[in-house]
Amino acid sequence: MSPHPAQTGAVNCAADPVSDARGVLDRCDELAAVSAIEHGIERVHLSPEHARVNEMAAAWMAEIGMRTWRDQAGNQWGRLEGREPGLPALVLGSHLDTVTDAGRYDGVLGVTSAIEVARRLAPRACELPFALEVVAFSDEEGTRFSTALMGSFAVAGNWHEDWWDRADRDGTTVREAAEAFGLDPARVHEAARRREELVGYLELHIEQGPHLEAADRPLAVVTSIAGARRFTGRVVGEARHAGGTPYPKRRDALVGASEVVLAVERLAVERGGIATVGRLQAFPGGVNVVPGLVEFSLDVRAEHDEDRDALVEAIRAYAEQFCAGRGLEFELSEVHNAAGVYCDAGLVESVTAAITATGDAEPLRIWSRAGHDAMAIAAIAPVAMIFVRCEDGISHAPGENVTPADVAAGLDAFEAAVLDLAARRS
Ligand code: GLV
Ligand code: MN
Ligand code: MN
Repeated sequence: MSPHPAQTGAVNCAADPVSDARGVLDRCDELAAVSAIEHGIERVHLSPEHARVNEMAAAWMAEIGMRTWRDQAGNQWGRLEGREPGLPALVLGSHLDTVTDAGRYDGVLGVTSAIEVARRLAPRACELPFALEVVAFSDEEGTRFSTALMGSFAVAGNWHEDWWDRADRDGTTVREAAEAFGLDPARVHEAARRREELVGYLELHIEQGPHLEAADRPLAVVTSIAGARRFTGRVVGEARHAGGTPYPKRRDALVGASEVVLAVERLAVERGGIATVGRLQAFPGGVNVVPGLVEFSLDVRAEHDEDRDALVEAIRAYAEQFCAGRGLEFELSEVHNAAGVYCDAGLVESVTAAITATGDAEPLRIWSRAGHDAMAIAAIAPVAMIFVRCEDGISHAPGENVTPADVAAGLDAFEAAVLDLAARRS
């Protein structure tokens, strides 16, 4: 069988969108094989697996004639010049890092699709009124260091100096990991792009929710992206003998934390927000010891930042009061805060026209409950996103799935959005 054009870098003359989509999905499978865990997918920021997938993406970009480089925040880039060298760029991209035991499409489909769209447009790049760049961001998930979007925040010029001392579970700091990755922490600011260098940023991503499937549509235009706030929390009690300590004397941190977890869900549902405790650990962790300390994570989101912030305060107030009533201390410290963003009206028009051209007369408009690199990039460029339907809304789990037909529609819309924007700027 002859290799798929996406594997050779050849110009796509066959115009077989489903076959193009299969090539993109094959690349997602190749990337899925690069994992730190044997049975599943895990690729965290600044890991050897991260270095490997950057190299793979760079090779695919180079095959289609892109100039490639890795920036000082670990993001992988490729660039095709437009009708003259040095024009501001339209950037297409997403991320290649994953959560633990991830699916194979979150972020990855956006990067492989961006490369495919660049492949399709490469022969015509010299007619475009902008340069075309592809980026594979390095840390959208925050799996390793508990703060997300480090790669895209660096590109937006919003690097936080206190991130350098943040440690992973093994005690390796961001600084140490960056140096081991071959980056120079003193040069992280070189990753920042200037506003004048960018025309906009377009990201294709699986929906990670059930709305497209419920509406029986393959694609949607994203109107806004909810900003998450993340915290590490602690409930502090007293570790004592599980048999010998009578109930009135117990200050059981896990019982307190359990009520806090239930309250997190109850308050989020009552207020129409979304809040999740995804990680919880009791210490000292003995079967015959009353837990003296619980550490947990908290992720809070809502369509509007004011509602999200009010939900955080409601959770804090309830938890402090409940824990105090049991002689426990409750602490919450913020580790990540991304403001929600609205997608750019002009780019949303281009994406809407592009989805319409795929045969959907009235594209669905939805706000993203998940966070994306587009949120960070919105600080320096207009952004917009295309969502592709995923099976049963499953994401951040091995069951993530998409169909070749939906990906084919996504590729057509992605390419058409770039051409619509080019036409508007010509
Ligand atoms: C990223 O996937 C997030 O929304 O947590
Ligand atoms: Mn993602
Ligand atoms: Mn994700």
